[in-house]
Amino acid sequence: MGLLFKDVQILSPLLQEQLEQIRQSLSFSALTVSRCLVYATPDGKGTAPHFDQNINFVLQVRGTKKWSLAENTHVTHPLTRHTMGQPTDPELSTYIDSPMPNMMPKD
Ligand SMILES: [Fe+2]
Repeated sequence: MGLLFKDVQILSPLLQEQLEQIRQSLSFSALTVSRCLVYATPDGKGTAPHFDQNINFVLQVRGTKKWSLAENTHVTHPLTRHTMGQPTDPELSTYIDSPMPNMMPKD
């Protein structure tokens, strides 16, 4: 079973400072939600292919992680996330360019 710890920056002034520095360096609004999520995932496990509506920076602290990437040609600027093989969010369905795929492209 994987573990997810949300909003870890609440416990760390250093992480709060770094989040603020990243936000400012990207010229994002002070209203931008910034947070730190910590995942502890068993060896050989992971998450299903998906896209997020937000910008993520991943810092690998320990172990290895295999990434499979593909261009999202199905929706521009999504306002919610989608996991491959799951039903499409009703709102997202109103502005997708083509049906969501059920598997990663071979390339
Ligand atoms: Fe994600």
